[in-house]
Amino acid sequence: MGDKEVTIKEEARAEIKIWNYVFGYAKIAAVKCAIELGIADVIENYGSPMPLSELATALRCEPSRLHRIMRLMVHDRIFKQEPINQHTVGFSSTPLSRRLIKGGEKSMAAFILLMSGPTCLAPWHSLSARVLETGNNISPFEVANGKDLWSYTEANPDFSELLNNSMGCKARLTVQATIEGCPEVFDGVESLVDVGGGNGTALSLFVKAFPWIRGINFDLPHVVAVAEKSDGIENVGGDMFMSIPKADAAFLMFLKKIKKAMS
Ligand SMILES: C[S@@+](CC[C@H](N)C(=O)[O-])C[C@H]1O[C@@H](n2cnc3c(N)ncnc32)[C@H](O)[C@@H]1O
Repeated sequence: MGDKEVTIKEEARAEIKIWNYVFGYAKIAAVKCAIELGIADVIENYGSPMPLSELATALRCEPSRLHRIMRLMVHDRIFKQEPINQHTVGFSSTPLSRRLIKGGEKSMAAFILLMSGPTCLAPWHSLSARVLETGNNISPFEVANGKDLWSYTEANPDFSELLNNSMGCKARLTVQATIEGCPEVFDGVESLVDVGGGNGTALSLFVKAFPWIRGINFDLPHVVAVAEKSDGIENVGGDMFMSIPKADAAFLMFLKKIKKAMS
């Protein structure tokens, strides 16, 4: 391959890439819109390929506008388009669209809403300023939102609920893999404390799989105050850097300062 041909290919690739950057946010905006409108939920419940007209009626929205969003998501293979008859096609679910269903088994809807919402997007808008800055150890989240993440959740219950639900989405996937992949780890464990356990999703899965375990869901007081109550689990509020409730084993997942909490 000559130099000239390489340059032509590189130029072509650059042309595609640059447009991806120009409209990069469109994909996440469409997915956020789909979650907020409940598009994946409606199509899943319909049970067969759903025509645009019926989808628009169910969502009470303008078909031509909806069509533009659906085209983007079909192109991105979030939904499939399948024939209904000779003249009409309809939209069907895929494994990917099922992850956008609110509260679905593998749902990541809350996590997407969290990360694409204004609070979590705000720090990204001043990334260059944070890179240029020297001697400031305040997190980009705090600079953008005026409070560190955990003080912010305390002051904003809706945001806190969204964050806890997002963690629950992730916990459902990872904890299930732990239960299936290494159940022997829980042999002989009679009590388990989940440090930074959020709304208790992880612990409730462990206690369901290993019912002899007594669970302690330990998190900040404002988090456990709204955590669901469930059999076999005690919600305890506190600060993991001060003390952690005693148990046979401790579970720590997705925490930034694990070593500090355990020392
Ligand atoms: C990133 S989330 C992880 C939640 C859960 N472990 C998971 O992986 O799904 C971190 C959790 O730690 C909790 N947390 C933060 N600081 C804490 C502290 N000082 N003491 C106890 N919990 C804390 C937060 O409220 C939050 O629920």
